[in-house]
Amino acid sequence: MDSDKELAISRRGILAGTAISAAAAATSTLPNSAAAARAGANSAMPIMLKVNGQSRPLSLDTRTTLLDALREHLHLTGTKKGCDHGQCGACTVLVNGRRINSCLSLAIMHDGDEITTIEGLGTPDKLHPMQAAFVKHDGYQCGYCTPGQICSAVAVLEEIARGVPSHVQEDLTAAPRATNLEMRERMSGNICRCGAYSNIAEAMAEVAGVAG
Ligand code: FES
Ligand code: FES
Repeated sequence: MDSDKELAISRRGILAGTAISAAAAATSTLPNSAAAARAGANSAMPIMLKVNGQSRPLSLDTRTTLLDALREHLHLTGTKKGCDHGQCGACTVLVNGRRINSCLSLAIMHDGDEITTIEGLGTPDKLHPMQAAFVKHDGYQCGYCTPGQICSAVAVLEEIARGVPSHVQEDLTAAPRATNLEMRERMSGNICRCGAYSNIAEAMAEVAGVAG
């Protein structure tokens, strides 16, 4: 890689990191749901979330994150809280088909949005293809990061199919392909402390139809 390219990539990395840190700083001052509840009902607001195909009316403190709304109010504990600062990806869910870190987003920003959590992707009797591939390829050890990894992996393959470019794409005018490098780059926001990365990549390759 030439030095101009390296410089451009490192600039993008710094800008992306700065944006994430700023967002994390903004939401890290948010109280958790227990503290929010103690703050009283004055700031409560009615919203409707469409979660896993069901309308779920809620009255929430306006400072409640989407992650806390899912876990603490709707008791959908499949979505995990890792860092609560937008740095690990454990809280990844799909909102209107796009992945987001739910710890960095306020629930009231999603009134009427379609939210899919790991509980809505498949069932124990009828796994989503990505869930089945994670099982087949041992794409997890402790499993804590796995719901976020699977939601992210599903979104990554959709991003590639839609032609969304990435930082490692050599030719931005060409359609991206589900290569190992592309998938690893796009999954880089999902940390696995158990180091199951190779197995996750194998699972994704199988679902993408590019398994060796
Ligand atoms: Fe949201 Fe870590 S818990 S990114
Ligand atoms: Fe343990 Fe990823 S499977 S953190």
